Amino acid sequence: MADAEIGVIGGSGFYSFLDDVTEITVDTPYGPPSDSLFLGEIAGRSVAFLPRHGRGHHLPPHRINYRANMWALRSLGVRQVLGPCAVGGLRPEYGPGTLLVPDQLVDRTKGRVQTYFDGEPLPDGSIPNVVHLTFADPYCPTGRRAALTAARGRDWEPVDGGTLVVIEGPRFSTRAESRWHAAQGWSVVGMTGHPEAVLAREMSLCYTSLTLVTDLDAGTETGDGVSHEEVLKVFGENVSRLRDVLFDTVAALPENTARDCLCTDAHQGWDLGIELP
Ligand code: ADE
Repeated sequence: MADAEIGVIGGSGFYSFLDDVTEITVDTPYGPPSDSLFLGEIAGRSVAFLPRHGRGHHLPPHRINYRANMWALRSLGVRQVLGPCAVGGLRPEYGPGTLLVPDQLVDRTKGRVQTYFDGEPLPDGSIPNVVHLTFADPYCPTGRRAALTAARGRDWEPVDGGTLVVIEGPRFSTRAESRWHAAQGWSVVGMTGHPEAVLAREMSLCYTSLTLVTDLDAGTETGDGVSHEEVLKVFGENVSRLRDVLFDTVAALPENTARDCLCTDAHQGWDLGIELP
């Protein structure tokens, strides 16, 4: 039996999730994930929690081993992943405390490894093939629906859809960058949503992003600009209700064997050349 069917990756200010947990360490062909994995249960569903930045936030966004994280989750049996993260709002109406469940993603990161299929031999000598997967719709429609319903059930009206732009960080955007992001029609800005989503797709995992706005980004606000303290403070004020929403989302997700979304058919006949865990 799988150790866990559903994965939750906690972001800034979100380092523990479940009460009664078993801590395990997992190694992967890509090295160790961000931290131990914490196994527990919600409504009879087995869940693995992984703190994205490590406990105590020792990993900046560009140093996170995203490949190891997603591989570790899948190796435990996880097929559906929820990825909560802190973001800045790019429109005045998306102020601190807004929960936005994006349906689109823009990658503005630089130089992050974003594929399992990069032609480099794996440590076991096997060579991944060249693979070009479809990624027009980066998020799982079933997971998004479950998250939106869960938020409404907790009287937290979410924003249904929008574009998450992911920057390299670790610095926040300049005002000019922020205004440019907003002028493109993008909704929120973060540092970790990529390459998590695409790696999930490469492994046929369902992936749902739940973004919590902790600040108005530099181009939208009128003060001195975003600070990390502000992000952690607002995240801390909202972490309890975000946890409730995640619990209800987990409970509403389908059994892994009953998934019928586009994520499960991501490979569409490509010969991957590597054995997925
Ligand atoms: N995470 C939280 N707020 C952010 C912002 N304004 N820009 C990038 N990442 C963030």
